[in-house]
Amino acid sequence: MVKSKRILLIVSGGIAAYKSLELIRRLRERGFSVRVVMTKAAQEFVSPLSFAALSGQKVYTELFALTDEAEMGHIELSRDADLVVAVPATANIMGKLASGIADDLASTLLLATDTKILMAPAMNLRMWLNPATQRNLETLLRDGVIFVGPNDGDMACGEFGPGRMAEPLEIAAAIENCLKQPTKIPAPGAAASPSSGSKPLAGRHVLLTSGPTHEPIDPVRYIANRSSGRQGHAIAAAARDAGARVTLVSGPVPIAAPHGVNLVSVETAQQMYDAVHAHLPADIFIGAAAVADWKVSAPSKGKIKKTGDGPPALSLSENPDILASIGKLKKGRPLYVAGFAAETGELEKNGRAKLVKKACDLIVANDVNPETGVMGGDFNTVRLITKAGIEDWPILPKEEVANQLIARIAKLVSELKR
Ligand code: CTP
Repeated sequence: MVKSKRILLIVSGGIAAYKSLELIRRLRERGFSVRVVMTKAAQEFVSPLSFAALSGQKVYTELFALTDEAEMGHIELSRDADLVVAVPATANIMGKLASGIADDLASTLLLATDTKILMAPAMNLRMWLNPATQRNLETLLRDGVIFVGPNDGDMACGEFGPGRMAEPLEIAAAIENCLKQPTKIPAPGAAASPSSGSKPLAGRHVLLTSGPTHEPIDPVRYIANRSSGRQGHAIAAAARDAGARVTLVSGPVPIAAPHGVNLVSVETAQQMYDAVHAHLPADIFIGAAAVADWKVSAPSKGKIKKTGDGPPALSLSENPDILASIGKLKKGRPLYVAGFAAETGELEKNGRAKLVKKACDLIVANDVNPETGVMGGDFNTVRLITKAGIEDWPILPKEEVANQLIARIAKLVSELKR
């Protein structure tokens, strides 16, 4: 019999606490066992009895309850779970974990756990947008905490904006997604587990593009975009860590290439195309570059001067599509071809269209609207699109997106019939 997954649900004090009751229902329907811990403030909103009734288990509230310690110590309580979820997560509990404060049972468990933590924040929008909360969010993301929501919406306080907790079904889906990946965090200094120590891409050649391209207008000016290369370079590092030989074809970026990868620096889309084809064959191709779609047809040899007749008319022509050229290779196509879809609207529709048009096996779609801060930022929220379906990932540091993406591709490649 498959052992049911154990969720430790930490409920902190907010009006959204009542939605955790609904979450427990959803989780139990899915076969999870749920053990609840409540903060003192949470008990002002919902009684422990309701949680005990729905979870079918004792509810824990006190750090220093000697009988409880005899039954199950707080360390054991925190480690006995497959995932720790804080729903709702108040500004207070986020702040405590971000600064390492353990002054009640809930915050002590969050600090003591060896399991991944998922938080569903809920608070007034001004509290959410406060720089202190945003700083804490960034710290927690860096520490590997996974977030679902908050969403925009009407709030109990009568205001509208970000801060409204994600719905129980969304949270249940995020929990299921988290549990598809390993959730136990090895102790510092512990021997690497067999899976983290193994090199699933040993013997493979991973060829990838990263960064923007620059398309010259004249010797001093160019057309470019805001790509920093952070995501592509992180994927190169993750592929290297997975044991692959890595060729990173990069446009001009302000960051260093990860050590141990073969860097091929280019400037234009045409140079990137030529370099990629020159470095075939590869087992895996990943197009992470933000390739300029157009180039100036005839860049000026000298600096274009102001003549007094108004601005120059630039005639543009289309650049080759590097990803499509690899996806459609008749001979020597890599075993696995993945691309990105940078979109400002209709993520799913446009991502699916790119999967087909560019003959890819996987599209990593991301929202690059300026307010997401993805372009040039530290974090990414991606949606994985394959023929098999769509998977939403929570907001993660780009390094973590890279690690999980490489782990996923390595698994899919290992399952292919050779
Ligand atoms: N790509 C590429 N060569 C190009 C354009 C894009 O290899 N000339 C790759 C990118 O590296 C990315 C994917 O194609 O993996 C999608 O890029 P994106 O900029 O999202 O889409 P475009 O194909 O440029 O289409 P559009 O600008 O219309 O969205």
